[in-house]
Amino acid sequence: MKGIILAGGLGSRLFPLTKITNKHLLPVYNEPMIYYPMRTLVDAGIREILLVTGGHNAGDFLKLLGNGEAFGLRLLNYAYQVGEGGIADALRLAEPFADGEPVCVILGDNIIEKGIGDIVAKYRKQPDGAHIILKEVPDPNRFGVPAFENGRIVRIEEKPSAPASQFAVIGIYFYDASVFRRIQDLVPSDRGELEITDLNNSYLAEGRLTHSILDGWWTDAGTFESLRVATNLVADTLQKTTASEIPAAVSVTAKA
Ligand code: DAU
Repeated sequence: MKGIILAGGLGSRLFPLTKITNKHLLPVYNEPMIYYPMRTLVDAGIREILLVTGGHNAGDFLKLLGNGEAFGLRLLNYAYQVGEGGIADALRLAEPFADGEPVCVILGDNIIEKGIGDIVAKYRKQPDGAHIILKEVPDPNRFGVPAFENGRIVRIEEKPSAPASQFAVIGIYFYDASVFRRIQDLVPSDRGELEITDLNNSYLAEGRLTHSILDGWWTDAGTFESLRVATNLVADTLQKTTASEIPAAVSVTAKA
């Protein structure tokens, strides 16, 4: 399975932080934002990745990530999205890279606490179709939201004012090779973008969309508030991990 990180768009919700750099190069606690989705894919065993970016600072990704060797990658490719035509428009550019293989797509501003190794393994067993990941959130109106009937997803709505459930569709998706044909059939939404939610609904309409529930925390980092939340979650998690690695006696001495 190949990996695709979508890091295009203009990051206008973070202006002026994004006036002279790309949103995904901004710090989230002690690392650039793009490191987190990169590590999510690598930790799940994905070693061939395409990074799609855009805007005026695309070259900075090459300076930061190079050929991906430092992350243990076999291959790191880059693609350039002109304009801000939406998530599905950015994904469209990955067709030659995917070359008929299934893909795991992650949004460059999505950060998770734990791994997706078990979900990758589950999707590998699925013969075709798509797979999405859900997480219960307090503010589903900011995201793609599934509506359920008898425990099954019947539709996904993008940023609904009256959400049909408390779940968000997080920015990690699995697609078979039909994804690029489906993108060709999409039409721009009211906000002028090719929506990932419309793509997921196209699989759903054919009964080819499965889902998992994410274990551990998840956040995006594309607004001032979510960037702050992301920074705090990462810092708190790191602190807990470090504290649990220190033997109790030593940590008491250290405090004294
Ligand atoms: O974070 C999960 C949510 O991401 C989903 O629940 C929504 O269904 C999905 O539409 C998306 O919502 P956002 O409005 O938060 O997406 P945003 O425009 O912030 O874009 C998220 C990432 O996608 C961004 O960090 C880079 C990439 N992107 C976005 C656009 C608009 C591109 O690569 N190109 C683009 O043109």
